[in-house]
Amino acid sequence: MSKIWLFIDRRLNLSPLLREMADHRIPDHANPLKKASAFMYCFGGISFLILLLQLLTGMFLMLYYVPSPDHAYASVSYIKNEVAFGALTQNLHRVGASAAVVMVFLHMLRVYFTKSYKNPRELNWIAGVLLLLVVLGFGFTGYLLPWDQKAYWATTVGVNIIETVPWLGGFIADMLRGGDEVGALTLTRFFVIHVMFLPALLLCLLAAHFFMVRRQGISHPL
Ligand code: HEM
Repeated sequence: MSKIWLFIDRRLNLSPLLREMADHRIPDHANPLKKASAFMYCFGGISFLILLLQLLTGMFLMLYYVPSPDHAYASVSYIKNEVAFGALTQNLHRVGASAAVVMVFLHMLRVYFTKSYKNPRELNWIAGVLLLLVVLGFGFTGYLLPWDQKAYWATTVGVNIIETVPWLGGFIADMLRGGDEVGALTLTRFFVIHVMFLPALLLCLLAAHFFMVRRQGISHPL
């Protein structure tokens, strides 16, 4: 053990906490090293890794992105054409968004077909559904940010669809758009939702999701 770690551990006694977090046996039916079909049990972990990559690439994109109608499009082209590794970062973030949706969906299918949503894991299924909505929300709000024609019209159509939801639809659409049409306020709102509200929600939901997975253990095979 390094001297620095010993110094910290003697003062904060972190080892028991780390041992509690890391020392647990993965059952054979969920361990791909023991059983090939167990790769399905990795979909949740892979989703998590992709989301971490999204967080990291997103933070680097934010260094250059400007969320205003005058500069958004130009700042994205600047990232793609001028910034060192900008095209790589932007592409990773763009492809990662689709990969996250696909992986989370595959993870949900695994949970569904192994009937892992049943008692006592109902609450974790509900947390999962909320996580899926958050991941879709990231995709929807992120799509507007390049502020090109495709982004503008996709958001116009998307918000119009939300508007058709009975009772609350009109209110939610107005809140998202910040007016009657997609415009400057919409861009600011989508940006803030994308980089502040949704990440905060994601972290809280992931903490609850992982806490429940550790508390209840992985479900048994059928
Ligand atoms: C951000 C998206 C998500 C992440 C990062 C995530 C991550 C994980 C991880 C790492 C596990 C441990 C077992 C495994 O990997 O299969 C797990 C278990 C579980 N997840 Fe997710 N999950 C997400 C979304 C969802 C969704 C959309 C659902 C369902 C609607 C869901 C429901 C569950 C349930 C019920 C378990 C317990 C499964 C069992 O005990 O076999 N999760 N999740």
